[in-house]
Amino acid sequence: MDINQACEAFRKILEEQQARIANMNTEKTDFSTKKTITIGVVDGDGIGPIITAQATRVLEKILADEIAAGSIVIKQIEGLTIENRIACGQAVPSDVLAEIKTCDVLLKGPTTTPHGGTMESANVSLRRELDLYANCRPVNISEKNIDWMFFRENTEGEYVLGSRGVELPGMAVDFKVTTDAGTKRIARAAFEYARNNGKKHLSIVTKANIMKKTDGKFTALCHEIAEEYPEIEVEDYYIDIMTANLLKEPLREKFQVVLLPNLYGDIITDEAAQIQGGVGTAGSSNVGDKYAMFEAIHGSAPRMIERGMGEYANPASMIKAAAMMLRHICRVDAAEKIEKALDACTVEVKSDGSAATAAQYTDALMQLL
Ligand code: IPM
Ligand code: MG
Repeated sequence: MDINQACEAFRKILEEQQARIANMNTEKTDFSTKKTITIGVVDGDGIGPIITAQATRVLEKILADEIAAGSIVIKQIEGLTIENRIACGQAVPSDVLAEIKTCDVLLKGPTTTPHGGTMESANVSLRRELDLYANCRPVNISEKNIDWMFFRENTEGEYVLGSRGVELPGMAVDFKVTTDAGTKRIARAAFEYARNNGKKHLSIVTKANIMKKTDGKFTALCHEIAEEYPEIEVEDYYIDIMTANLLKEPLREKFQVVLLPNLYGDIITDEAAQIQGGVGTAGSSNVGDKYAMFEAIHGSAPRMIERGMGEYANPASMIKAAAMMLRHICRVDAAEKIEKALDACTVEVKSDGSAATAAQYTDALMQLL
């Protein structure tokens, strides 16, 4: 590629982003009145099929009456495997995406992302195609007085253009995008969550001292939205010090809602999950106006599969994600039952194989439902 071609590639990106802003969907699905809700289940790669199967067992049990009555349909969707994605040369093969779009919500196992090359991550692709702009990641540790909810912007930042960078002789350039509409909608989602859940503190986390245009815009627009929520105390932090603050007692206890751009949200939520007991304990939602996808926050753990330890993957992350999904579709009682069972289940799962398997853990959890 030469400079002219790079400029052309950049022009295309700018035009596409303008078109994206114009197409941002704002009509929300109302699940409290929807007669039939279709839950798509996608297994993914590595430990994905193992932990997704366990979460599906839990859903089938807790929703048995509604499934029998036909008001909830669980639909298994095949083909989002790394083998099939490579064979089709698509991050999400078109037929799989079409199937997914027939569902209201999706329970998705982790998918393997190829390093390098130009194939985008299936996650990033799904988040973009379904316009799942709010990545919500709760971390709760009651004995440490920690109750955090991260609102990670999920359709912009470095991610959405991460596979679209340009390479010239001797250099490579990637792009990062922040839009007004994209920032305002994630900010509103975070402030609404805070208001509806009695939260009084919200942190806006960026690196606006360095990423002046994109993070600068993010910060300014979040403050604009904040004016509509005067009961919520708002503080700005840079991502580096926030990373330290999550480890700092007792300061960290004051954080409640944390609002941040995509990449910082990705990184800090792994840290937060580790404080909670490991990434295997954390579920997350990817919510848009029309669709929503629920998943573990971790990847497909190929090393566990290589070691023959896949059966020992912790399914708690996916079961938590399933509970978040039930809340999203207004099945709050069912969600609470699962959350209580997760809290009460004392069976341990360890990735070295020295404790229960995913299935044994789920057996015990299902006894508590
Ligand atoms: C996550 C994951 C994904 C991400 C990967 C699998 C693409 O780390 O959901 O946090 O980086 O967003
Ligand atoms: Mg991550």
